[in-house]
Formats: sequence, structure tokens, C-alpha cells
Amino acid sequence: MREVGPERFRSVMGHFATGVTVVTAQTADGPVGMTANAGTSLSLEPLLLLVAFDREARTLRAVQASGHFGVNILEAGQEDLARLFASKTDEREKFSGVPHAMHDGIPVLDGALAWIGCRLERLIPAGDHTIGIGAVESAEAGQGEPLLWFRGDYSA
Ligand SMILES: Cc1cc2nc3c(=O)[nH]c(=O)nc-3n(C[C@H](O)[C@H](O)[C@H](O)COP(=O)(O)O)c2cc1C
Repeated sequence: MREVGPERFRSVMGHFATGVTVVTAQTADGPVGMTANAGTSLSLEPLLLLVAFDREARTLRAVQASGHFGVNILEAGQEDLARLFASKTDEREKFSGVPHAMHDGIPVLDGALAWIGCRLERLIPAGDHTIGIGAVESAEAGQGEPLLWFRGDYSA
């Protein structure tokens, strides 16, 4: 058996194809967000979802401060947004020029395939990440095909 290190673990897990989301929150300086694929539905009774935040992610601090966050599931044509929100561009700049609307204090990207609005229920430290558990308060789906992430690259 080969020893498993972080790079091998990341590469092997990259075979698990996922959708791509932008997790958003509202701050006193405006909306912020980050690209994330480590999210999933967690419970139906009560309605819960989870997102694994890198402890260094600035969006984690914003989610913590606001107590609410949105999960925007990206549509196939939104790869540029995925790249933008995965960057370390000034966090207040990420949203400039990005069409969006506020829904109950949650930034929702125009053209997202679907979105879920959550109240932050719990944060659980786990290694170099923090698991954010959200109580689902709203959920809407639109039309289109999903943007996908597979073996370290985007596809549609
Ligand atoms: C496809 C993809 C998926 C990602 N998934 C996550 C994730 O689930 N959690 C996370 O904390 N960062 C994830 N990242 C990295 C963040 O998007 C990146 O660290 C970003 O710069 C964080 O932005 P912020 O510091 O403004 O919050 C992912 C990046 C990519 C390209």
C-alpha cells in the first residue's frame, strides 16, 4: 500500500466529481464570497447543509460575523465566476461588476443554477478546516446545466 500524503489524497479525491458553488455572506462593506465544492446536504429533519471552510478563508470570518450564508450552485457557463471567487482578490472587489441580488440578507448570483440560504447553526473545527453547518431557510432552483469539478479542472 502506498503511503498517503496531502497531494495524493487531494488527487484521489479529485476523482469524486462535484458541482461548484460560491458561498456568500453579507458584511458591513458589502457582499463577499468564495468558490467551494466541499459542501453537501446533511439532514432533512431538521433541514441542514454543511460547508467545509479552509480556516484561512476570509469568507469563513464573514459567515461567522453575519450568522447567515448563501450557497450558490453555479451553472455551466459560470466558470469565470468560479475562478474569480477562488482567487485572493481583495474580498470587497470580488463582487464589483458581478450581477447579484440580495435575498433576506444573502447575496445571490444572477444566473446561478440554484441557491440555498442558511442561518449559521454551528462551526466545528476539523483539522485545517472548519465545518459550517447551516439551517436551511430558503432554497430556489433555476434552469440550466451544472458547472462540474473533476480531477482538478472545470467541465460542463
Ligand atoms: C473548485 C474549487 C473548490 C474549492 N472548494 C473549497 C471549499 O470547499 N472550501 C474552502 O474553504 N475553499 C475551497 N476552495 C478554495 C477557495 O475558493 C479559495 O481559498 C478562496 O481564495 C477563498 O476566498 P476567500 O479568502 O475570499 O474566502 C475551492 C477552490 C476551487 C477552485
